[in-house]
Amino acid sequence: MTSPPTTNKPSIKLSQKHLDVNDPNLKIVLEDIQGNILKSHGRSHSRHIFLQFNGHSHENRMWLNQFASQLTSAYEQHQTSLDFKNSGTEHLFTGLLLSHSGYQALEIDSNQIPDDKAFRAGMKDITFQYDTGPNGVHERTINPLNDTPKNWQIPFNQKIDALLILAYGGDKTDDEVCNNYLDNEIAKIESSINNVATILSVEKGYILRNKNNDVIEHFGFVDGLSNPVFFKSDFDSWQNKEGIKSFDPTAPFDLVAVNDPGGIDEDLSFGTYFVYRKMQQNIKGFNKQAQQLASLISEKTDDKIDSEYAGALAFGRYKDGTPLTANSKKDTFNNFDYQEDMEGLKCPFHSHIRKTNPRGDTNRINNTPIQKERSHRIVRRGISYGSKNLNPDSEWTDAGLLFLSCQSDIEQQFLVMQCGWSDNPNFPIKDTGHDPITGEQNTKLSNNIKEWQHQVNGKTITLDFRYKNLVKVLGGEYFFAPSISFLKNLINNQPKKPNLL
Ligand code: HEM
Repeated sequence: MTSPPTTNKPSIKLSQKHLDVNDPNLKIVLEDIQGNILKSHGRSHSRHIFLQFNGHSHENRMWLNQFASQLTSAYEQHQTSLDFKNSGTEHLFTGLLLSHSGYQALEIDSNQIPDDKAFRAGMKDITFQYDTGPNGVHERTINPLNDTPKNWQIPFNQKIDALLILAYGGDKTDDEVCNNYLDNEIAKIESSINNVATILSVEKGYILRNKNNDVIEHFGFVDGLSNPVFFKSDFDSWQNKEGIKSFDPTAPFDLVAVNDPGGIDEDLSFGTYFVYRKMQQNIKGFNKQAQQLASLISEKTDDKIDSEYAGALAFGRYKDGTPLTANSKKDTFNNFDYQEDMEGLKCPFHSHIRKTNPRGDTNRINNTPIQKERSHRIVRRGISYGSKNLNPDSEWTDAGLLFLSCQSDIEQQFLVMQCGWSDNPNFPIKDTGHDPITGEQNTKLSNNIKEWQHQVNGKTITLDFRYKNLVKVLGGEYFFAPSISFLKNLINNQPKKPNLL
């Protein structure tokens, strides 16, 4: 009996974990999916260039087709980071994202446009209904984000068709060198883009660091510690560093990757949905409120409590990243959960990291299967913008986070996390309150919030303090990062041609 013919076609399972970049079977997949999705590009400076197409779809396609040759695939990103490690050579990272209106401006067939409903509606559609109910309480809510797009900064209240992401610089590269390099790249784009598109704006991002050279955000807290892990090599390094017994950061490929319906091969071409939010931070307000909370706790405990500790209660981590539940400083950064703190006495239930990654709370409290909770995770790829002054004299200085997250389902990941968890005063339990950093902070909700119990230096106290007005959304949009083959194939697969004279 002859055995059936075997095909040597490479393949990847959507549920696959522990990807190996050297697996020949995966090479074609990793060459077609853009970089900065499965792993951060790691560059120190970036430019986010927002475009509105104004050419005919044919011209738009021609330009994108040319631009596609400079995109950095996941595979190339790996090669360039090896090169940087081995020889110090820096490489430009380039990415390209399209909004739903961008696909329409290119006249892409509807069946080749990614079909996530939030993506198709766009972030500015405040009438669209979403289901972000946690714990099986499913009520569709209009505009759960509570955004007011008409008040957003230009260009976010305009039609945004595409976002180009350029990034450059190692952790020690001079700011000026990076800025000059990136400005020069933008000048090249400007001269090639001619009548095809208008550059609506350019957001400048950079990695902010503390004196230990750790990446921080503008309130001064180490950031980027906990993110889903896709590659085996990254998993191995977490396992060697601190273990994964209490929290395993591993994620399956399809936590972020979705088949690109316009890609060259439906089994091998992948993209992801990006959420973009420009978030201004009230640094002075945060420092002031942390001092107020510190005084309140000091009064209640008769101990001298510093404002760093009070600030840590907003995040669930100390400034250096140590979780509030850790037994000692630098004990662990990611291998922890809240099993030993089920009253929320050490790490408040409302703290930013407990709201956005409950690490099993939903299972312990509501019997939600742990895999369900983990399926709501997002991949964060944000970067700071604005002034580097971490002690400004006034509130709402021009500084904050260019929040970027990747996910395979915007409603079930970003929107559940933002609206069902952070903004929801009753998540994970009644009267928890909102997330002080990014939760909905209007007065109506704040007035309803009850006191919370906290344990400090062995004393349990009751607090009715709530952080307010720490972050403001200045704009945003939903995008898709198409496969590189989709962009390279744009001119072979043309709609009706314009009448070129
Ligand atoms: C200005 C806005 C924000 C600031 C300053 C901020 C800051 C931080 C910091 C300092 C951490 C701890 C470091 C870490 O665990 O990696 C963190 C973690 C996290 N943040 Fe944010 N964040 C912001 C917005 C958001 C938004 C909008 C979301 C999602 C809706 C989000 C989701 C998360 C998640 C999922 C984690 C990891 C939690 C964990 O796995 O334990 N953040 N953020």
